[in-house]
Amino acid sequence: MQLNNYIGGKWQDSGDAKYVPVTNPANGEELAQVRLSTKEDVNLAVAAAKEAQKKWALVPAPKRADYLYEIGRIMKEKKEHLAQVLTKEMGKVIEEGRGEVQEGIDMAFYMAGEGRRLFGETTPSELADKFAMSVRAPIGVVGLITPWNFPVAIATWKSFPAIVAGNTFLWKPATETPMMAYEMAKVFEEAGIPAGVANVVFGSGSEVGTAMIEHPDVKVISFTGSTETGRSVAERGGRHLKKVSLEMGGKNAVIVMDDADLGLAVEGILWSAFGTAGQRCTACSRVIVHKDVKEELESLLLTAMEQLTIGDGMDETVKIGPVINKKALEKIHNYVQIGKDEGAKLLVGGEILAEGNLGKGNYYAPTLFTNVDRDSRIAQEEIFGPVVSLIEVSSLEEAIEVNNSVTFGLSSSIFSRDVNTVFKAQRDLDTGIVYVNAGTTGAEIHLPFGGTKGTGNGHRDSGVAALDVYTEWKSIYIDFSGKLQRAQIDNS
Ligand code: UN1
Repeated sequence: MQLNNYIGGKWQDSGDAKYVPVTNPANGEELAQVRLSTKEDVNLAVAAAKEAQKKWALVPAPKRADYLYEIGRIMKEKKEHLAQVLTKEMGKVIEEGRGEVQEGIDMAFYMAGEGRRLFGETTPSELADKFAMSVRAPIGVVGLITPWNFPVAIATWKSFPAIVAGNTFLWKPATETPMMAYEMAKVFEEAGIPAGVANVVFGSGSEVGTAMIEHPDVKVISFTGSTETGRSVAERGGRHLKKVSLEMGGKNAVIVMDDADLGLAVEGILWSAFGTAGQRCTACSRVIVHKDVKEELESLLLTAMEQLTIGDGMDETVKIGPVINKKALEKIHNYVQIGKDEGAKLLVGGEILAEGNLGKGNYYAPTLFTNVDRDSRIAQEEIFGPVVSLIEVSSLEEAIEVNNSVTFGLSSSIFSRDVNTVFKAQRDLDTGIVYVNAGTTGAEIHLPFGGTKGTGNGHRDSGVAALDVYTEWKSIYIDFSGKLQRAQIDNS
């Protein structure tokens, strides 16, 4: 199967384009061939999006929303198919694949509802016989750059608010997971969305991403990915005065206090640390544990980790799937070596799994380090794999300080049964998302998603906050006095 771009409501011909294989991380099988688009392809998509946007902006928002309701309905109908494509292409276990597709469906219906809200403000003018209001205006053509770890959910977080607000978009999915974008393009087509409103362009960050960032008609760039790439996107986008919304890395911690329900904490840690094989931005990669419960928590974690079944995510009994590719496998293994060299104690895991069929895929053993120095590299840098570091502390204050000591600020969590402890923690944890008595993952689509410090640049995906990325505030003053009224002068 060849994956070609969806531009201006048409599937592009293969022409003399180059293609690269898309492989299943569970077994190395080739799933498809994806186009490596060029700057010219991007130019075509931007032109189509720009042309379509003029009309789209004039479609009443509740009517724009009708397309989102239809998109949500089609996604719901195809949920199982989409989940299976997702699992084959990305590797997460099928139950999580279904959950991710559901996240996209939820976002479709939620943002469709925004079509009848998109609230602005009306407010009194300081002058007599004058009316004042603010409205959200669309910006134009937006460029979306999405990662492979949530190949459908994150794309819906960005594209759905963009279109309900009257923008058109071009979307560059990660080269590792183009099939989900291809499937979504088919959904857009089936929903009958007007030509040019939704465009998908496959290809590399260096060619397609750069062309989007450099194109003067792309007014907004929304990017989710590594901090290193995000910084470069912001720098280059900034030169063109683009609005650049970034969602980047994390080094999220679960804090386990001495009064925590340890059984519950273990479940929360396992789900957050090893779900999606540790490849969530919100993955727990540090456990900050009170010294009085450290030994007990270690032993409970070790016992629970023995139950984790590893393999092809299409197998319903498997709990942990593969990591995305060989490069990721090497990076994770390299970090484990760094941890050992730094003097952390490896309790379990720390190896590439290659026995039997596992050898065909990219599998890493769930890994637990203890006695980890809070300042060491494995406690500070994003590993993006199933590796957790236990750090011992003596108080809540110290736990919060350790949590906040990293350069990232996406998600955090605390397990405690003391109301004072949890209220202090939710105030002082310097992250965009805080969980109490739950792990570091589980964001719901109607709340803002994003982080502080190196995780972002002040914007948010999801929730009403996402509309701020895709709209300009326009303030409108209507003077019906029939005379010149000067603000700040004629009424003082
Ligand atoms: C991500 O890891 O980039 O809360 C997104 C969660 C998911 C989304 C994660 N709903 O972990």
